Amino acid sequence: MKDSGDNPARPAAGVRLCALSEIADPGSKGFRFRVDSRLFAGFVVRAGDLLAGYIDQCPHAGWPLGFDDRYLTRAGDHILCAGHGALFSLEGVGVTTPCVGERLTAWAVEVREGEVFTA
Ligand code: FES
Repeated sequence: MKDSGDNPARPAAGVRLCALSEIADPGSKGFRFRVDSRLFAGFVVRAGDLLAGYIDQCPHAGWPLGFDDRYLTRAGDHILCAGHGALFSLEGVGVTTPCVGERLTAWAVEVREGEVFTA
């Protein structure tokens, strides 16, 4: 499920994802977009002033990192891959095996007037 950037299911810039208030602080929310048989999966992480989007694909085995809206550790201080348990900083950098130093692929998002949009 490698997302090469030419995935037709990937939403264009300016698509509303949700209200910012729908994402806990700290918290995360997953999004799925489908066009025919193609799926785009991404998630947004919120923690204080940080709001970051990532494509939902672990650099280790390419699996989705989470499901529903559950992408963070219980403490909310790291992104947790459900596949083999790798931890990533909220900035998307792997900090434990098997993903030390690996980066999640960014998915640009922005907040405008309390709403989260693709950017
Ligand atoms: S698929 Fe994420 S750690 Fe293996």
